[in-house]
Amino acid sequence: MDSFTATTARMPALRMSIEEHPERYRVLTGERPTGRLHLGHYFGTIRERVRLQAAGVETFVILADYQVITDRESAGNVRENVYGAVLDYLAAGLDPRSTTIFTHSAVPALNQLLLPFLSLVTETELHRNPTVKAELAASRRALSGLLLTYPVHQAADILFCKGNLVPVGKDNLPHIEVARTIARRFNERYGTVFPEPAALITDAPELPGLDGRKMSKSYGNAIALGMTDDETAAVIAGARTDSTRTVTYDPENRPGVSGLLATAAIVLGRTPEDIAAEIGDAGSGALKKLTTDAVNDHLREHRARRAALTTADAAAVVREGNARARSIADATLDEVRAAMGMIY
Ligand code: TRP
Repeated sequence: MDSFTATTARMPALRMSIEEHPERYRVLTGERPTGRLHLGHYFGTIRERVRLQAAGVETFVILADYQVITDRESAGNVRENVYGAVLDYLAAGLDPRSTTIFTHSAVPALNQLLLPFLSLVTETELHRNPTVKAELAASRRALSGLLLTYPVHQAADILFCKGNLVPVGKDNLPHIEVARTIARRFNERYGTVFPEPAALITDAPELPGLDGRKMSKSYGNAIALGMTDDETAAVIAGARTDSTRTVTYDPENRPGVSGLLATAAIVLGRTPEDIAAEIGDAGSGALKKLTTDAVNDHLREHRARRAALTTADAAAVVREGNARARSIADATLDEVRAAMGMIY
């Protein structure tokens, strides 16, 4: 059994254990603030975080701003992206009183874990990491030291707060494996400080974007949560369909039509085949109208809650989250230095 199959097989038991003993778990999860959060984030991860919070699991959400520059030259509008993401979290139901939302760059002690952690992995191991390889291929740039060490800083992100549960998509599993290895090797060498974090694989289906590829801001195929109704209508109107009139669900041969069907299906809680059958010969114009209305209806309350918040609200949440993350990171780094005999 490969590690993906093995991890997946453990999910039902893990989910049950989380429900029975939420107090045993601490979740660390997050994303790179590279742009506006979109429907793929919402169904893939944000809903899961809100569920974990409701189940009583203490949750940390990292906005990994330093990691924006793993595969690009500049961080772009990183502050705008951070605040925008926070507004979406709040609108989706994350409560900053129980969920700590913070930015990577604001927590020096977290980043300092990188030095001892780097000593625990070899260059060969880093080069072998399939996630790093995939990100390198997608970036079409030379491999930066920061990208090569991605799994190591991700391990620091998780372990600074002794996170033991990490909700990720399956493409991120090799990263979690590195975090487990680092925790184990540190504990073996210096005495037990860290838990070995488990991956929680989200069971949400991957949402295709408007062109049928994975929804991603960099593909320009995404519906941002914070768009207005009109912006949503405009991006859906611009989606490329095909000249076959009858609407059918066929992701392989009809990626555009199928991407729209999948989007409508997930927001309506129906199957794409069912929606295709309903539209039939009415064609892709009718499909676009149905999808636009479905998405806008689904996001109406989210967008209203988001619009009621200000950038100052987001900034205050990040400031408080950063203060809390800093005090936890300081305590962990003290333990690490003590375990290593570096007390002066
Ligand atoms: N690598 C994740 C992404 O690109 C973001 C991330 C950074 C993360 N640190 C993490 C996710 C720690 C889980 C745990 O989306």
